[in-house]
Amino acid sequence: MHRSPHRKNVMIIAITGATGQLGRLVIETLKSKAPDAEIIALARSPAKAADLGIPAREADYAKPETLDRALAGIDTLLLISSSEIGQRSTQHRNVIDAARQAGVKRIVYTSLLHADTSPLSLAAEHLGTEADLKASGIPFTILRNGWYTENYTGSIGGALAGGAFIGSAGNGKIASAARADYAEAAVAALTGAGHEGRTYELAGDEAYTLTDLAAEISRQTGRTIPYKNLPQAEYAATLTTFGLPEAFAQALAGWDIGASQDALFDDSHQLSKLIARPTTPLATTVAAALNALK
Ligand SMILES: NC(=O)c1ccc[n+]([C@@H]2O[C@H](COP(=O)([O-])OP(=O)(O)OC[C@H]3O[C@@H](n4cnc5c(N)ncnc54)[C@H](OP(=O)(O)O)[C@@H]3O)[C@@H](O)[C@H]2O)c1
Repeated sequence: MHRSPHRKNVMIIAITGATGQLGRLVIETLKSKAPDAEIIALARSPAKAADLGIPAREADYAKPETLDRALAGIDTLLLISSSEIGQRSTQHRNVIDAARQAGVKRIVYTSLLHADTSPLSLAAEHLGTEADLKASGIPFTILRNGWYTENYTGSIGGALAGGAFIGSAGNGKIASAARADYAEAAVAALTGAGHEGRTYELAGDEAYTLTDLAAEISRQTGRTIPYKNLPQAEYAATLTTFGLPEAFAQALAGWDIGASQDALFDDSHQLSKLIARPTTPLATTVAAALNALK
């Protein structure tokens, strides 16, 4: 008789993208908040997941044959959206199809803030995956994640070197949150009750403009770092001089134009409600970025 290797009555949770920055934070948080759950890391290179301290299975979004094996016996799946922009609709569909075959009981998916109305070029792929999820018949929870504050604080080193924080976001209001806040929200959605069929718009409690961000950097460093708003083409061209590939530079500049239209703004406070605490303040994430530069 086939015997399950798993403990009886224990929820088995699997995390895709387990080797990524968000996946690692989710696993760390799950270990502390859901010590009774059995957690499985899904990674395209399981060797890269060895340091996570939990069982790891090979799961490459682009290789369906790995997904059937990877999802066997899984109750709840966190599908962290792929980082391979342009291929994600097909990749995510591969995961959803395999999950249906494997009898996964619920999928939690990391989508994009206001995916149905967002002007960001990223929205179409996320909306496609949301539609696939809804059509799959598998119970789902959609986490429409806003921007990570780290997307901007990652440029602080460059701003200090260049004497200004540059971008194309104008006076757009940005309600970002720390990656760790979104990780905690994913854990709440994975382990809590009542999230089935729900779609959450997740963003930070506090909104700021890039002028505010530059002022915060100035305050914490004691230097005068102004915000310099550039036309989209000039910003993209400047990013390529820092070594970014042309297509990625264009995409980043385009997302900043979206930000200038408040595409990264939301004041529903669903993230802080889900994690039952305020989101991480901008000043804290700026301080962490400055500390990392030391
Ligand atoms: N909200 C935001 O501001 C924001 C910003 C950036 C990205 N995102 C989205 O959120 C996701 C998680 O963010 P993050 O910061 O954790 O990104 P990340 O650090 O780049 O991690 C991406 C993860 O996706 C995995 N992956 C990529 N292609 C794969 C494939 N074909 N099969 C299986 N796994 C694959 C990577 O595996 P490897 O370790 O093997 O590379 C990695 O584990 C990203 O993938 C992206 O969709 C959101």
